Amino acid sequence: MRKDKTVTRPAAIIILAAGEGTRMKSALPKVLHPIAGRTLLGHVIEAAAAAEPEHLVIVIGHGRDQVQAHIEEVAPWALTAVQEQQNGTGHAVRIALDSLHTAAPELTGPIVVLTGDTPLLTGTTVRKLVSDHGRAAAGVTMITARLNDPSGYGRVLRDVDGEVFSVVEHKDATIEQLDVDEINSGMYAFDAQELRTALTQLTTNNAQGEEYLTDVISIMRNSGRAVIGSMCPDSNEILGVNDRVQLAEAAALMRNRINESWMREGVTMADPATTWIDVDVELERDVTLLPGTVLRGPTAIATGARIGPGTTLIDCEVGIGAEVIHTWAQLAVIGDRASVGPFTYLRPGTVLGADTRAGAYVEIKNSSVGDGSKVPHLSYVGDAQIGTGSNIGAATVFVNYDGIEKHPTVVGDHVRIGSDTMLIAPVTVGDGAYTAAGSVITEDVPPGAMAVGRAQQRNIRGWVARKRAGSSSAEAAARAESPSDTVTPDSPSPQEA
Ligand code: UD1
Ligand code: CA
Repeated sequence: MRKDKTVTRPAAIIILAAGEGTRMKSALPKVLHPIAGRTLLGHVIEAAAAAEPEHLVIVIGHGRDQVQAHIEEVAPWALTAVQEQQNGTGHAVRIALDSLHTAAPELTGPIVVLTGDTPLLTGTTVRKLVSDHGRAAAGVTMITARLNDPSGYGRVLRDVDGEVFSVVEHKDATIEQLDVDEINSGMYAFDAQELRTALTQLTTNNAQGEEYLTDVISIMRNSGRAVIGSMCPDSNEILGVNDRVQLAEAAALMRNRINESWMREGVTMADPATTWIDVDVELERDVTLLPGTVLRGPTAIATGARIGPGTTLIDCEVGIGAEVIHTWAQLAVIGDRASVGPFTYLRPGTVLGADTRAGAYVEIKNSSVGDGSKVPHLSYVGDAQIGTGSNIGAATVFVNYDGIEKHPTVVGDHVRIGSDTMLIAPVTVGDGAYTAAGSVITEDVPPGAMAVGRAQQRNIRGWVARKRAGSSSAEAAARAESPSDTVTPDSPSPQEA
């Protein structure tokens, strides 16, 4: 196949995104609703960028400040054109051409028009549209599709020779025309000059009182120009999101597409239907994803790792062979062969080294856990640095907050923190040190020391018999001390131990 870049590269792509999206019933402009970690508009921009247009113009209007801010974030190289009043798709394109003319007066070549609410559109289809258009030397090439339910869409009308001669909007169509199942996707490639000319001839004589871009089709046809309808083999690609039902449909189709491509790259998914992976996620071969796994943002998972079931990872990094069960983690790094969960909450700034463990009902924030160290059960670790080979006993709390400020804790290498230790920050526990279970540690512990920070135990003998006489406890105590059981020795008191 001959490849000529000067022909296959569009002079400009215009994305229409000024409409309100009334049917979404949302405070958020429609095109900013996200699926798979990218906005609807973001997906269309991505497809447009794949065709390497010289210029990208996005027509904005409704919610324009929010949409503009988003564009500056994801495509700062794009131009925006403001359509104050949404007088129709033809009007929107005219406004885009005006601002394009200011930016690039000499512009010639193909101009592609896309809509901002078709997130499943691919770069491949946009490129094909441009090359089909170039080959046919047509006035306009329109992407069409056959739908089981074409309602709402503009119908493509072809003459006896099968040539497209017009598009009629649903609201303007006759009963016979409504039976046509080939629809206009709303995506086109135009010859720039012919588009400019045709746009000057638009009227508002239609059911919606708007300037229809679709009227350009019959205008060009009537002036003898070639009009091509290019059928899109995958009608999902042109699916427009108008309400929340279609938003969910588009999200499910996107999920299937993403999951299928990862499975083909060597990722095992026990249940693709409940596995949701954002577009920026990176997975290596032999990653296993169990049901109910949600991977968001630029999360990266290394080979051999097993994630889920029931796990959400946002902007996380997971090492080789790690296991993460029933966990919620954000901006966390999980080292090679680490074991996390079930029911673990890793907050931003958590860094778990290799061969570490963060177990059930453990919350960790802004802390590093050195290689081989373990936080197995029921603990909160905040603003801490834990060395290598250390163990944090069950129900330990790193008491990092004095009500005003957060303070750091340092735990050295091969430390044994006893169960239910309160480490009152700022505090340092030296290498090889121990803390006694139930201690409240307020002072630094030197390396190798055993820190005991708890009240001494007192046993008040006979208290139950005196204060709870007749209770089941008193009876049980009496049985234990009954004369028939003469061999019961006094247990040693803790003071004697
Ligand atoms: C349009 C087409 C229809 C096609 C359908 C495909 C027209 C007249 N009709 O209909 O043939 O089947 O798309 O989805 O073009 N917009 C603006 N400014 C406006 C009006 C619209 O920017 O003044 C934007 C909208 O935000 C949207 C896009 O253009 O992204 C399409 O507009 P919409 O009102 O949804 O057109 P449809 O009725 O769906
Ligand atoms: Ca629409």
